[in-house]
Amino acid sequence: MQIFTIKSIYDMVRYMNILAIETSCDETSLALLSADYNPDNHSHTITVHNHLTNSQIEIHKPYGGVFPKLAKREHAHNIIPLLVELLGDIQTDATLEIHDIKIEHLKVLLQKEPVVFDMIVEHILTLPKPDIDYICVTNGPGLEPALWVGINTAVALGYLWDIPVVPVNHMEGHILSVMAPEISESSNTFTVASDHYPVPALALLISGGHTEMVMMHSIGDYTIIGTTRDDAVGEAFDKVARIVGLPYPGGPEISKLAGLYTKSTNPYDIELPRPMMYSPDLDFSFSGLKTAVLYAVRDFKIEHPEMEHLPSEYIQALAHSFEIAVCDVLSHKVTKAMQQYNPSMFVIGGGVSANIRIRETLDTLIRENYPQCIFKKPTRALAVDNALMIGLAGYFKIHSNPDAVYTDIVAVGTLSL
Ligand code: KG4
Ligand code: ZN
Repeated sequence: MQIFTIKSIYDMVRYMNILAIETSCDETSLALLSADYNPDNHSHTITVHNHLTNSQIEIHKPYGGVFPKLAKREHAHNIIPLLVELLGDIQTDATLEIHDIKIEHLKVLLQKEPVVFDMIVEHILTLPKPDIDYICVTNGPGLEPALWVGINTAVALGYLWDIPVVPVNHMEGHILSVMAPEISESSNTFTVASDHYPVPALALLISGGHTEMVMMHSIGDYTIIGTTRDDAVGEAFDKVARIVGLPYPGGPEISKLAGLYTKSTNPYDIELPRPMMYSPDLDFSFSGLKTAVLYAVRDFKIEHPEMEHLPSEYIQALAHSFEIAVCDVLSHKVTKAMQQYNPSMFVIGGGVSANIRIRETLDTLIRENYPQCIFKKPTRALAVDNALMIGLAGYFKIHSNPDAVYTDIVAVGTLSL
């Protein structure tokens, strides 16, 4: 009798191990997960074996934002050491057979990433072949130089290990990030049952580069129904922070100071506009709000020439007014979309969805006005960029189309859903 150690095609579709790679902005993030599909009840059991993120925030801070060339350099330096850590003490029987000719081709694949090539030769060629069935990698939207590091690395590893590579849309990752609960070493498995995620679903995606409202008809089938005409909401948070002298990324800083505001004792009352709140469409505009903050601060400085710095209470009042204005605009547009599309589920995602006031405002809005609609938000850790959400989006892409082969994967900075 012959014993097959290789998984059958059926098993591959049912059970798979995925390496996920995310390098679209300033986080190098890798995840190792497995997914087990149960055809009897159409549920998916996901196990997160490891999930590591290397943030570049400290490096970009002096520039007040993400500097693409620097982001690329940092991803290239960090991705292989992070991969070695992610794989840990992998136990597999499969040895990696490396011929010189393979190394030559690897060099060609990584001609734009010489640092990654050197590190693969030094650290990966010595490891046994890991038990991975697919590599999922973000191919957009994002900063193209940064995206390319992830893509080139994924394609090189796919070639080396003979594993298919699947491109993943970063924004789809943000939508599906709501599926994962808080992950810890002792609790790293969760089940995704389709009846827990009813469609049609409305998604509000709020990040540093995007502000979008999306209708999800099914996983993989999306229509954008609203978008920002200028700045993304996260960008507005970051710019407002910069205006008042707070470091990048401004969102968490503004949020922290807004939380310190006390109406009864704070002497400042700052009125800010809510651009496009009543426009008949589902589009947004945040650049006018940012400019209003700029003018408010300029006028305050003119009125108080004796003050060397903005008083902390003034910054708290400004941060609070800004957050309230953002919450008002988001609530109005979500209400409009709820009325127009009557979705069965509402999800939020993207870095700004980590904001506590925004989470609570939208939670209350849905609970009080649309109790029949399920509201899902990502854990605060998974609201910001991470590879786990890329692994999830990649898994469902593979699951829905197991025969698809993706060749010539390219970085597309403006990739749309
Ligand atoms: O999704 P993300 O990590 O990266 C992009 O794909 O853009 O989002 C980053 C954005 C930044 O603008 C950051 O300031 C914002 O998310 N952000 C927040 C908070 N945490 C991160 N904005 C408001 N409140 C927060 N707590
Ligand atoms: Zn993002």
